[in-house]
Amino acid sequence: MEISAQGYTIYHGNAVFAQLQAFIEENYPAHSIVILVDDNTFELCLPIISGYSDAIANAEVIEIPSGEANKTLVNIAHIWDSLTGIGTDRNTLLINLGGGLVSDMGGFAATTFKRGIPFINIPTSLLAMVDASVGGKTGFDFNSIKNQVGLFSNPKAVFIEPDFLKSLPERELFSGFAEMLKHALIADADLWEQLKTVTPTHLNDIATYIPRSIEIKNSFVTTDPHDKAERRALNFGHTFGHAIESYFIGADNELLHGEAIAIGMVCESFIAVEKGFISPVVLKEIEALIAIHFSFTALDNYDEEAIISLMEQDKKNSDGNINMALITNIGSYQIDVAVNHDEIKRALHYCKALSY
Ligand SMILES: NC(=O)c1ccc[n+]([C@@H]2O[C@H](COP(=O)([O-])OP(=O)(O)OC[C@H]3O[C@@H](n4cnc5c(N)ncnc54)[C@H](O)[C@@H]3O)[C@@H](O)[C@H]2O)c1
Ligand SMILES: [Zn+2]
Repeated sequence: MEISAQGYTIYHGNAVFAQLQAFIEENYPAHSIVILVDDNTFELCLPIISGYSDAIANAEVIEIPSGEANKTLVNIAHIWDSLTGIGTDRNTLLINLGGGLVSDMGGFAATTFKRGIPFINIPTSLLAMVDASVGGKTGFDFNSIKNQVGLFSNPKAVFIEPDFLKSLPERELFSGFAEMLKHALIADADLWEQLKTVTPTHLNDIATYIPRSIEIKNSFVTTDPHDKAERRALNFGHTFGHAIESYFIGADNELLHGEAIAIGMVCESFIAVEKGFISPVVLKEIEALIAIHFSFTALDNYDEEAIISLMEQDKKNSDGNINMALITNIGSYQIDVAVNHDEIKRALHYCKALSY
């Protein structure tokens, strides 16, 4: 299956490795190939793909350490350094083999190196398959602020092989599943109904819904590549989610991105009820499905002023308001809804009460 994105194609299905080989032979026959991995994808994913492609088996490999704490300028410099050491020129193709950390950092490093070398993404986490590898956002964290420095830059192609998920830790699978739920909630009520039947650890089931999830992400970013309007719908659950994720960084109960977004989607659905956008029945339906897969116990103990002040740093705010993308039903949304501090506190209290 192929999905057309902004000037590139997303390949998905059983034949992706053959399509990858053909894509390289056709478009980059004289290019040298460099593969960017983290320590986990070096060990678990690189051997799989090397067996399918001579071009990849013979490629140079650059490794960065895994973990969001390593999404830093120091490691971007390490990639530039390694590219220089390898003798990279514009006849080099960079392949990002990993989760969203690898594609965000590799995309940024490639686009800035010698004013730009081509790159392709081979996502290996569920979150990267349905979200991070598509849409052209690249970058790294700076001064502890997530994705503070970056640029829009599209890959030349994306190749999605769900078999990589076999080695992905369960918590990471659930984290990616949260983004699939988000795509359904903002754009596709049928997908929402289907996802009710899915257990994220049943890989055959989940693989069935990856293409539709990518299509939704792709349609938003194609309509609005630079995040001026519609693309902001993808931020549903993320105003709360990012703040909650940032708040717990370094704590014993640190949350994965999707775990925080799951809580954020319930908080923001609560606000959607308060604004009269959705009924309490819809909120209960959303809450019930999210509670099957995710926990609210992180909210047992938090400082609400600290969370609000983290929300105030969100890139999508304007005129001193905290703006959110809220759903208006399952499958529809409204962007740029101004939300006040009292509404935020009530939503946090509501979700805290769910932490049984
Ligand atoms: N560019 C975008 O539009 C966009 C969208 C969403 C998230 N992101 C970014 O993506 C990152 C989160 O992505 P992520 O959840 O993929 O994180 P990640 O890349 O840190 O991967 C999560 C963990 O899974 C491991 N892993 C990946 N694939 C594996 C596999 N097949 N088997 C075993 N282990 C594997 C990684 O080594 C890591 O430890 C964040 O930095 C976030 O800011 C970007
Ligand atoms: Zn997200």
